[in-house]
Amino acid sequence: MSQSQLDQIKTNALKAFSDAQNSQELYNCKVQFLGKSGALTEAMKLMAALPKEEKPAFGKLVNEVKVELEAAYEKAESALKSREIDSKMLEEKLDLSFSVSSQEQGKEHPIYKVTNEIFSIMARLGYSLRTGPLIEKDYYNFEALNIPPNHPARDMQDTFFVDDTHVLRTHTSPIQIHSLETEKLPLRIIGTGPVFRVDSDISHLPNFHQIEGMCVDSQVSMSDLKGTISFFVKEFFGPGLKTRFRPSFFPFTEPSAEVDCSCPICKSKGCSLCKHTGWIEIGGCGLINPKVFEHAKVEYPKWQGFAFGFGVERMAIIKYGVDDIRHFPANDVRFLKQF
Ligand code: PHE
Repeated sequence: MSQSQLDQIKTNALKAFSDAQNSQELYNCKVQFLGKSGALTEAMKLMAALPKEEKPAFGKLVNEVKVELEAAYEKAESALKSREIDSKMLEEKLDLSFSVSSQEQGKEHPIYKVTNEIFSIMARLGYSLRTGPLIEKDYYNFEALNIPPNHPARDMQDTFFVDDTHVLRTHTSPIQIHSLETEKLPLRIIGTGPVFRVDSDISHLPNFHQIEGMCVDSQVSMSDLKGTISFFVKEFFGPGLKTRFRPSFFPFTEPSAEVDCSCPICKSKGCSLCKHTGWIEIGGCGLINPKVFEHAKVEYPKWQGFAFGFGVERMAIIKYGVDDIRHFPANDVRFLKQF
């Protein structure tokens, strides 16, 4: 083994290291030159055959080559590793232009769209929003609203009973009582949410939504109520609509009225939606019955008020010309997308 042979091994190894295309190839080169039976190890074994005096110098030389090759290997290895990481990152890059199958998007439910619209109209008149429990004490749903036990008015709203003293609220009017009991007067509130009645056909759902309005102040009259409702109806359905009050009865208001608006579909000419009358009923209203104030411990006539309650599904049906109330809870996106 001569120095020139050793130089040859070194040159070959350095070239092999720099030519290696990937970590595996590089590792194979390492084994080939620096491994247990690699070229350099074999060269060291040949040292045994050298004359004694040449051994130290040759040994030193072999060692220098070994250190140099190991350093070259490490350098090549780290260069290859970072190249491999770079190309892997390129390969795995997110391709945002890749088209995926389109997914159905959800849509705000028309009931909530209508509720929000109603609320934003009433907010302009100074009303603020309230909700209340869906399971009510009999007291809040009936008694405090001047509907005592065994009163025939209870039959107006066929009730789901939870137990002897609790019901699923049949209307949003109990929200009036909660507010009168706990809030400072004067007061203007809008209460909304689901209500429940034992009822189900093409124009009735057992679970529907109401919007309740209440104004309590020092001097409140029927004309304030009528002005408020006419304004609201015009804002909600459009400027051409008329409202009319029909005398009616609710135990919690006196006097009471049913509110009709002129049919926006046929412009009062008569159609199936308005049953050819030109008018559509949207809810009830009236001046708050002093008996209700008495229950809520509000001083009357120092404080007076009006209240109204409308069916949200009904308003949506009229506004959008929906032919069957049962579309609303079905949640079919094809239906929901039309609003
Ligand atoms: N709560 C009544 C109903 O559900 C509607 C109403 C509310 C009437 C407020 C008058 C005043 O039928």
